[in-house]
Amino acid sequence: MNGATPGRHLVLVGLMGAGKTTVGRKCASRLGRDFVDTDDVVTALAGMPVSDIFATAGEAHFRALERQAVADVCASPARLVVATGGGVVMDAENRAHLRASGFVVWLRAPVAVLAARCGDGSTRPLLANGGTAALERLLALRAPVYEAVADVTIDTDGRDAGSVATDVLDAFKKVSA
Ligand code: S3P
Repeated sequence: MNGATPGRHLVLVGLMGAGKTTVGRKCASRLGRDFVDTDDVVTALAGMPVSDIFATAGEAHFRALERQAVADVCASPARLVVATGGGVVMDAENRAHLRASGFVVWLRAPVAVLAARCGDGSTRPLLANGGTAALERLLALRAPVYEAVADVTIDTDGRDAGSVATDVLDAFKKVSA
């Protein structure tokens, strides 16, 4: 069976600070699936952290590696829980892979909440010149895309990761029942 499992990947999308990694890990452990973060796959492909890729090779190179990471992860025969980098959905090829192989959940939160969760943004190059303003700009640009690509949207404002994970899994189980 090559480790193949039935069903779809469970894919989390949303801006930096949305809680994709924390919620994704919880969902994976409750489902008994492996968890993959596309930023980790990119880091492995490049042999350096995301911030170093931006600094040494630029965002375009990061996005090319990210496209490779999304294609690889979506092609996994074992069904996974996938946390995506916040910008993954801005690429049409990525959106097609995610929609074709996954159930996509947008974890939504207001900018103030995202900014608080991102802290000083030191590991996130796109927040280097002022986190809140950058997040506002990115949310305006990306919200319609998150909405369009997602099967379901879950608001995370004021909620702990455990209860968000419960909502994610309830929505996922409805379609996989
Ligand atoms: C990015 C989000 C980051 C990472 C990179 C670019 C973005 O991932 O992929 O810094 O474009 O929003 P997280 O959303 O996991 O922080």
